[in-house]
Amino acid sequence: MIGRLNHVAIAVARLADAAAVYRHALGAQVSEPVAQPEHGVTVAFVTLPNTKIELLEPLGEASPIAAFLARNPSGGMHHVCYEVEDILAARDRLKAAGARVLGDGEPRIGAHGKPVLFLNPKDFCGTLVEIEQA
Ligand code: CO
Repeated sequence: MIGRLNHVAIAVARLADAAAVYRHALGAQVSEPVAQPEHGVTVAFVTLPNTKIELLEPLGEASPIAAFLARNPSGGMHHVCYEVEDILAARDRLKAAGARVLGDGEPRIGAHGKPVLFLNPKDFCGTLVEIEQA
């Protein structure tokens, strides 16, 4: 069911520092940061030939990545995002398989303007999984 790896997201305390690491040490192209107050994060994308890295910095008091960064002060891998053709069909199949969808179970518009859902990491080998309609 899942298709391409759309991105791997890394949570960081300081986006400017993380962007500098990817630009200078790793020689990658990094987008300008974009604030997404509705998601509680500021995001920059690292473009790789076969996928993207999403750098996430907390934005606001109730950022969903604040607790993660409290546990991982130097940052860390936060989630992986897989593409699916039909997000509602994917959700229904996952729920039928016993997976727990986070939030109210309805897709939200994610960082790329496409519908996304997040899945409980306890059901996926300890990894937070985002699915995005391709
Ligand atoms: Co993501």
